[in-house]
Amino acid sequence: MIRIFSILAGLFFVGALAWSLLWDTIGFAHDGLPNTVEKAFHEHPRPLKLSSDGWFGKFDRKQVKRGFEVYNQVCASCHAIQHVAYRDLADIGMSESEIKTLAATATVNAKDPLTGEMKDRPGLPSDHFQAVVYGGQGTPPDLSLITKARHGGAAYVHSLLTGYTNQPAELLKRFPDAKTPDGLHYNPYFANLNIAMPPPLTSDGQVTYSDGTKATVEQMSTDVAAFLVWTAEPKLDKRHQVGFWWVGFLIYATVLGYMSYRNVWAEKKGH
Ligand code: HEC
Repeated sequence: MIRIFSILAGLFFVGALAWSLLWDTIGFAHDGLPNTVEKAFHEHPRPLKLSSDGWFGKFDRKQVKRGFEVYNQVCASCHAIQHVAYRDLADIGMSESEIKTLAATATVNAKDPLTGEMKDRPGLPSDHFQAVVYGGQGTPPDLSLITKARHGGAAYVHSLLTGYTNQPAELLKRFPDAKTPDGLHYNPYFANLNIAMPPPLTSDGQVTYSDGTKATVEQMSTDVAAFLVWTAEPKLDKRHQVGFWWVGFLIYATVLGYMSYRNVWAEKKGH
């Protein structure tokens, strides 16, 4: 009985595999040559190396802080990072007074503790970054979690920021109707190739770094990508560290278990 059941279960899995293989093959044959402009010209993010990558990755906090400076001086006029509180910035090396000053530049609508009424007041370190009012074309998404929300994460952000270019002549030849609409900008890393965001990082020296690093476009786009990895998971360092200790502990416990097994059975087996 049990044997029949396990054969059936095995057949079920083999069947499921064969089924998905079949559909993949059909899909592949069907797609053939890319027949839409997105399929033909969309590009995958170029690889980007950050020190937070991998199992043992750790943030380069100096880089993350520079990335915040890029965000603050360039992106903040359109994009919010509402998951981040001002005091979180202590983790990347901002002093208490810097944080206080920065928070106070924001206007926060909050309950007045004396009257219970909603009132505008200057921001405090415990407040989160506020929503941004944007009047232009498109809707700038909140960037706190963007590196988790988009395939490619930081590499995507970096490629997107440095990927603006003219529409290739070949694109217009093959797809004459696919001209970038007015007010949008061609960017092959964006899913539908035309993005409402005007190129935000266009010239070297656009940002003033407090650590004196030369602000090339490449540097700024890499640093801000590193910052957005941090906003999405500020405790990444901790997670890697805890994981490392857990694996170590499990190996230790396994060795210990094996040794005590040998010890307990040594006499019985007559070694
Ligand atoms: C002038 C306003 C403006 C500025 C400045 C700006 N953005 Fe944007 N951004 C937008 C708009 C609008 C969109 C939505 C684009 C769309 O949906 O077509 C967007 C979208 C994005 C996206 C999401 C793309 C996607 O896959 O949906 C990312 C990532 C991004 N911006 C990063 C940045 C970074 C980093 C900076 C600073 C270096 C920045 N932006 C500066 C307006 C801006």
